[in-house]
Amino acid sequence: MEKKDIDWSSLGFGYVKTDKRYVSNYKDGAWDDGALITDDMITMSECACVLQYAQTVFEGLKAYTTEQGKIVIFRPDLNSDRLESSAARLEMPVLPKGRFVDAVIQTVKANDAYVPPYGTGATLYVRPYMFGSNAVIGVKPATEYQFRVFTTPVGPYFKGGAKPITIKVSDFDRAAPHGTGNIKAGLNYAMSLHAIVTAHKEGFDENMYLDPGTRTKVEETGGANFLFVTKDNKVVTPKSNSILPSITRRSLVYVAKEYLGLEVEEREVYFDEVKDFAECGLCGTAAVISPVGKIVDHGNEICLPSGMNDMGPVTKRLYDTLTGIQMGRIEAPKGWIVEVE
Ligand code: PLP
Ligand code: COI
Repeated sequence: MEKKDIDWSSLGFGYVKTDKRYVSNYKDGAWDDGALITDDMITMSECACVLQYAQTVFEGLKAYTTEQGKIVIFRPDLNSDRLESSAARLEMPVLPKGRFVDAVIQTVKANDAYVPPYGTGATLYVRPYMFGSNAVIGVKPATEYQFRVFTTPVGPYFKGGAKPITIKVSDFDRAAPHGTGNIKAGLNYAMSLHAIVTAHKEGFDENMYLDPGTRTKVEETGGANFLFVTKDNKVVTPKSNSILPSITRRSLVYVAKEYLGLEVEEREVYFDEVKDFAECGLCGTAAVISPVGKIVDHGNEICLPSGMNDMGPVTKRLYDTLTGIQMGRIEAPKGWIVEVE
């Protein structure tokens, strides 16, 4: 396979149309067999449930070229499980077991010329999603659905790559108590658009959302969970039932304990504690681990001791170990890496 002529190292986190995408339709209570197609356009009713009532859920994972030259994906079974719980929450059908991972593998294989080569810093982002496609005008779930997977080669989510970013404490909430913050539904991201545009206008890279019930505890950002490191090298990560259960965060907790021998606390984190942490990072598929250098709460600045130039030392060890596992430099726990080609 000949790679596409792309300047891989200068890719940002944007959409690049690739050759093939996977489509499967659900109708009359059953999924069809699914197929790879070339058409990137979707035609549907003006009254489709997704367009009127935002009935859509999605996932995000990446394909990597390893040091050995293989194409692999990272823990797709967990994306499959999460899509299942997101779909259930929005009254959408689930895919039969195995179909999700199979569709992801087929789509990555069909676009292998777009998987960035090892060492370029870029990866192939994979976006599986599902939406209610038939006309619905009363508020109720659709009866017809489409599941699709597309891919796009990407670079770092934040422009500076591994440079620490500055975030603000948002005045808006992205989730409601007992709402949908714990699933990956488009509606949560629609909720965050005004907040992110506001943050960018004010010169910040991202928002820190606090818990919507009391606004005293740290939740997450618009697209990543938080990881903090205490001055005595403990890893602390917020536990909440209104944040997305990040696969990266769950993997990093394992890496911290089992590979690096660090103590980890998954617990409620009060905003008042943040000033005492030594390091802060945002973790997610897109973000990997993006270091945070400064957190601003209505003019009150918290400057992390790790500074604005480099990742903190513990964050760096976590980053190096996780990406080492993903890129085949470090042996992975059983089942984490699925070979595509
Ligand atoms: N939180 C939000 C709101 C996200 O959109 C994402 C991205 O998927 C994450 C956290 C990180 O989750 P994961 O590590 O599974 O990509
Ligand atoms: C991901 O990390 O996969 C996400 O969906 C986050 C999004 C902000 C791009």
